[in-house]
Amino acid sequence: MKKVISVLMAVAMLFSVCMLAGCTDNTTNNNEETSTDEDVSLTATSGSMTATEGVLVMATNAAFPPYEYVEGGEFAGIDVEIAGEIAKKLNMKLEIKDIEFGSIVGGVQTGKFDMGMAGMTVTDERLESVNFSTSYATGIQVVIVAEDSAITSLDDLKADGSMKYGVQQDTTGDIYASDTVEKGGYGEDNVIRYKTGADAVQALIAGKVDAVIIDNEPAKSFVAANSGLKILDAEWAVEDYAICIAKENSKLLDAVNNALADLKADGTIDKIVAKYISAE
Ligand code: ARG
Repeated sequence: MKKVISVLMAVAMLFSVCMLAGCTDNTTNNNEETSTDEDVSLTATSGSMTATEGVLVMATNAAFPPYEYVEGGEFAGIDVEIAGEIAKKLNMKLEIKDIEFGSIVGGVQTGKFDMGMAGMTVTDERLESVNFSTSYATGIQVVIVAEDSAITSLDDLKADGSMKYGVQQDTTGDIYASDTVEKGGYGEDNVIRYKTGADAVQALIAGKVDAVIIDNEPAKSFVAANSGLKILDAEWAVEDYAICIAKENSKLLDAVNNALADLKADGTIDKIVAKYISAE
């Protein structure tokens, strides 16, 4: 009898191990240490909204004044301050990672960072990889040229190889300018990509490019910081800035959208913007 019971118990134990582990032929991943799909969804619904509980990790590219830059060893700018207010509302500590602009979307998509905030334009292509919050600002792509340039309007910008355009790599200025003429660009061969907008502006000053295509507010900062440059009086493209968040992290997306709505309603965002951008 004892033997029968122990055999029964062994069968029962085997059965329950099978239940836990799935008991498929692929034994390598089927031990009790591996979390099942059930565990993952449990974490997603009951766990933290961020990779580290209580910490909101924001990826940015801090070479984009007045949205994000480094001053006296500290991060400053519109995005930095808005992110600080969002973190406060969510009861979290804000941690900023300064990386290449082109690495932000991928890093957010793979969960390396909780969100990306970098004067980032909402585009269809980026929406394939990440979600975006509601927009908190409008961005305008403009054209910077030398003060004495023969280029005086958008019509003077040629795609016949006689002109080179400087852009910050992986930005919408880069993406649109590199596009074909039929699609409103100047062709990849006529575009020179720089690591930062400031580098593109230095190339313009050095005569290596004929024009720089970049967002309006950074353009104003760069023109103010360097003599001999001007911004063409025209809008090359109008865009929406928003915060990108991993597609599966709808919890954080909702929380950020709620925080943004509050910060818009109580005038905080306007106040932050006014601190950095003087009304014209
Ligand atoms: N708005 C442009 C884009 O989304 C440029 C943003 C660049 N931002 C930065 N922090 N460097 O592509």
